[in-house]
Amino acid sequence: MDDYFKSWIVKLETVAKTENASPARLINWLLKGHGIETDVRLLDAKTLTRNQQTQIESGLVRLQACEPISKILEAQEFYGRIFKTTHDTLDPRMDSEALIEATLSYFTKDDAPRLLDLGTGTGCLLITLLLELPHAVGIAVDICPKALSIAKENAEHHGVTDRMQFCLSDWCSNVTGTFDGIISNPPYITDGYPLDPSVALYDPAQALFAGKDGLDAYRILFNQLPPLCNPTTKIIFEIGFDQAKSVPALGVEKGFHLVHSKPDANGISRALIFEKLDSNV
Ligand SMILES: C[S@@+](CC[C@H](N)C(=O)[O-])C[C@H]1O[C@@H](n2cnc3c(N)ncnc32)[C@H](O)[C@@H]1O
Repeated sequence: MDDYFKSWIVKLETVAKTENASPARLINWLLKGHGIETDVRLLDAKTLTRNQQTQIESGLVRLQACEPISKILEAQEFYGRIFKTTHDTLDPRMDSEALIEATLSYFTKDDAPRLLDLGTGTGCLLITLLLELPHAVGIAVDICPKALSIAKENAEHHGVTDRMQFCLSDWCSNVTGTFDGIISNPPYITDGYPLDPSVALYDPAQALFAGKDGLDAYRILFNQLPPLCNPTTKIIFEIGFDQAKSVPALGVEKGFHLVHSKPDANGISRALIFEKLDSNV
């Protein structure tokens, strides 16, 4: 292997553990992201153009500083599709695929549900649902204008803009109408929780933290949701690993009952499905 890349393989050992991939694999992703398909083990750095050398060197320095490869390449896979992600958006997480599975257990491809995605970020949840449910329509809400513009880019890329609206709003304050499915992966980490640098330094704080107990966003949402619900509305929330009891307890206080919960790939209860209590009367 070329000496230049050999030295980077050594420098990236620690980072590679966090990313759960070998240093060579990380470098290969970086190369591929810049249009170089060759395996690093076969590549002579001197054959790269000056521009390519600058881009790769900059990417390697960023990798060494624990920046996730997804942020460097501005791309992350979710439910088998690629979404643009930046420092203004939370990187789509595999755990959140439980929300997709949960929602798809209530609607079929022939249904035309009206969906609402609160805290859309990259738009990965709503865009995926619109792609899986070809007659569905939906509104993507975020408080961050830059996140909404990334969601728009992703919607255009995936060809769903004709069925998707974008709403700059502090949770539901600018949202009207009723919805068949309300999906949200709100911030749910307790303030001050010691996160891995790859998250703490590179994902936006407003996508992560939700007060002293991590429940602030759920409190607000349960308060604001009743006028947006019809008698059969399903509310599908992502929760933190230790919130499977506390979030339903908040829901009951506001008239929402837990109808189902769906685990993530690690078997941790991740998606909770609620209905409005009086909707069954
Ligand atoms: C955990 S991220 C989820 C992003 C995306 N839905 C996903 O699952 O990958 C939470 C999102 O909520 C947004 N957010 C935070 N506070 C908000 C508020 N008060 N009103 C609307 N959106 C908010 C953040 O900007 C962020 O995009």
